[in-house]
Amino acid sequence: MNLKKNAGYKAAEYVKDGDVLGLGTGSTTHYFIEAVGKRIQEEGINVKGIPTSFQSLLLAKEWNIPITSLEENDIDLAVDGADEVDEEFNLIKGGGAAHTKEKIVDDAAKKFYVIVDESKYVENIGAFPVPVEVIPESSRTVIQTLEDMGATPEIRMAEHKDGPVITDNGNFVIDAKFEKIESPAHLEIDLNTIPGVVENGIFSSMVDKVIIGTKDGIKEL
Ligand code: 5RP
Repeated sequence: MNLKKNAGYKAAEYVKDGDVLGLGTGSTTHYFIEAVGKRIQEEGINVKGIPTSFQSLLLAKEWNIPITSLEENDIDLAVDGADEVDEEFNLIKGGGAAHTKEKIVDDAAKKFYVIVDESKYVENIGAFPVPVEVIPESSRTVIQTLEDMGATPEIRMAEHKDGPVITDNGNFVIDAKFEKIESPAHLEIDLNTIPGVVENGIFSSMVDKVIIGTKDGIKEL
C-alpha cells in the first residue's frame, strides 16, 4: 500500500475548479501534483499552480498545470508534505531543503493542508533535526549560535555533488538537532533572529488540515 500516494490523491479531491494552488515539494506532494494533473486531463478543471521549488515547477509542467506566481495571484489552497507533524499541527519541514519558499507559499494560502504517511505523525516534533537555511558566509557564526542554544548543528552535504547542498535560493542548509523542543512557536521565532538565517523548517500555527495515509485508510484531522 502506498500511503503517501493515498494522502496525495485524497488532498486532490479538495481542489475546486478555478482554484489557485500552492504546490509543495517532496515525494508525497509529488502524488498530489500528479492527481491534480489527472483531474485537469480527465475532468477539464481549470486551476493554476504556484510551485515551492524547481522540483514542483518541473512536475507541474509535466502534468500541464498552468504556472503562476504570488505576484499575480492569491492562493486558495496549498498542499505540502512534512517531515514531522504533531498533535497541535506543528511541523518540521525542509527535508528537501525547500522550506523557505514552502513557508512563503503555505503561509500565504487561504487554506493549507498537510499530507503525510503515518510515520510522520508524532507526539512531539524534534526527532528530525530542524533545517535552517543560511546565507553561506554566515554558516560558521550561525553554527556557533546554534551550539550556544543547545543544538547539534551540521551543514547538510550533497549526495551527487561535492560539498554542501545548495538550495534553490543559492544558500546552505544547517540541520540543527535539539535535545527537546519545548515550544515550537518560540524556537521558530528565535532561529529566525540569528543574523544570516534566511528561514527555518519549523511551521507553527499555519495548518488547517492534516491528511494522513495509514494502513487502515485515510485519517483526516
Ligand atoms: C521539502 C519538504 C518536504 O515536504 C518534506 O521533506 C517531506 O518530504 P516527503 O514527502 O518526500 O517525505 O519539506 O523541503
